Amino acid sequence: MMTMSPMMADLARNVGLSGLKRAAGVVTRLLPIGQPTMMVGPGASMRLGQAVNDFGHRKILIVTDAVIVSLGLMEPMTTALTAGGTQFVVYDEITPDAPLPLIEKGIALYQSEGCDAVIAFGGGSAMDAAKTIALAVTNHKAPRQLVGYFKGFRAPAPLYAVPTTAGTGSEVTVAAVVSDPVNNRKLVIADTRLIPKLAALDPSLMVGLPKPITAATGMDALTHAVEAFIGQWCTDFTDRMALSAVGMIYENLPLAYANGSDLAAREKMALASCYAGQAFTRANVGYVHAIAHQFGGLYHTPHGLANAIMLPHVLKFLQPAVAPRLALLAVRAGVGNAGEPEADLARKFIESVEAMNARLGIPVHLDALREADIPALAHAACREADLNYPVARYMSQAICEGVIRQALPPAVPAAKAQAATKPTTTAKPKTDTKAVAKRPARSRVKKAAESAVAKPVSAEPAAPEAVEAAAPPLAATETPAATPAKRPSRTRKPAEAA
Ligand SMILES: NC(=O)c1ccc[n+]([C@@H]2O[C@H](COP(=O)([O-])OP(=O)(O)OC[C@H]3O[C@@H](n4cnc5c(N)ncnc54)[C@H](O)[C@@H]3O)[C@@H](O)[C@H]2O)c1
Ligand SMILES: [Fe+2]
Repeated sequence: MMTMSPMMADLARNVGLSGLKRAAGVVTRLLPIGQPTMMVGPGASMRLGQAVNDFGHRKILIVTDAVIVSLGLMEPMTTALTAGGTQFVVYDEITPDAPLPLIEKGIALYQSEGCDAVIAFGGGSAMDAAKTIALAVTNHKAPRQLVGYFKGFRAPAPLYAVPTTAGTGSEVTVAAVVSDPVNNRKLVIADTRLIPKLAALDPSLMVGLPKPITAATGMDALTHAVEAFIGQWCTDFTDRMALSAVGMIYENLPLAYANGSDLAAREKMALASCYAGQAFTRANVGYVHAIAHQFGGLYHTPHGLANAIMLPHVLKFLQPAVAPRLALLAVRAGVGNAGEPEADLARKFIESVEAMNARLGIPVHLDALREADIPALAHAACREADLNYPVARYMSQAICEGVIRQALPPAVPAAKAQAATKPTTTAKPKTDTKAVAKRPARSRVKKAAESAVAKPVSAEPAAPEAVEAAAPPLAATETPAATPAKRPSRTRKPAEAA
């Protein structure tokens, strides 16, 4: 029997997969993807509340998390709902990564309260939980049964969104990323009808975002834009969105990071995240996400952080195939001038990503990463990319291992390593949102939210297929799974909420 050399096998794989992805790209190009009516600027969340009043809903389920409630971020919107006579019930138990059991609780609350619409209010975790609840209740299906493409026959319940982070773009994407805490899997539900009807980008909600969350979520948005721009499914529209996002992020992320209260920079970041979401929901993502999802599954690394660490390494691998595109990004990012040699511009762009990471306090290495895990991580990442992503150049298992190895922390001397494993330094998730919610001091809440992003914790190793390779618009941010808050949800009638 004839066998192919590994080089020939890789070549065949590259050519075969590229052809298949190109064909799939023709189909996705034709897929109608709507967009929400957007409200933008300080006070937009209140205006969304006013607008929703006109739809005459019986009762709305507001899906959020306890940190958001503690910070009082929903008040302008709920005051507007109350003034308009709209009843609502707040479900504030969502924790990072939108775990399935908490989504199921939200579904039960929606049904027992007789709700007929959903407002998603929070970061990607709360928004994706809300999207899933809205789809599950109309289809009478458990969230798990909705995993994959178009698994719901009926459209979701009317859905409105107010993002409070600038990163995921979930308010404009066809995806909901949820997590299965039993086996540490990230699961994707994809349906073009998951796009909300209205969305409010309200920068005043983001001024209290802790620096590490500002940094990680901002780099998630940058990664969406870059991967959409250099993939094979890009279109004129996605290019425009991706380039705008990159320009805005380079200009405004350092400003928002340095001064969280810079409303103009926050607003530009909210828009950039939204544009990047519009780009990748059609053009998809690539290896940075494929690898980041494995870090999220195995180590619970915050997704934006994992993306940020891997972005320069993956770009170095892709550079030979995408140098002209990287050159365009460099010019748009303002780190080079049109007319310079493409190779120089491409290099400058990659260096600028590294510089941006450094400026945002993002580490070069992933502390949790272990050499022994790398083969399984690479295997799962290649599988995810092979099945889903229209990347410009495919990685072999060995190459992917090498790329991931770049993020390995430097070897720790034996004595130090032993000390580091003592119980005192064991990182326990500090995101018990119930406890956080009870603390009145804003600075404490902020600190707890910061720890959710800043301190990745170890988790039981996940199976290589930890991320369900299901959906084209996959984009996941894994943060340490916090202890579900047990505080009962509150039902408010308009009068009570006043
Ligand atoms: N649907 C999509 O298209 C899509 C795209 C990318 C990521 N995701 C998913 O989104 C989730 C991550 O979302 P995320 O990165 O927005 O983080 P997140 O929603 O998990 O929030 C992170 C932390 O920030 C806190 N927080 C949120 N807004 C705040 C504010 N304004 N002020 C202070 N604290 C605030 C939260 O309480 C939480 O502790 C992941 O589950 C990921 O898989 C989905
Ligand atoms: Fe992402």
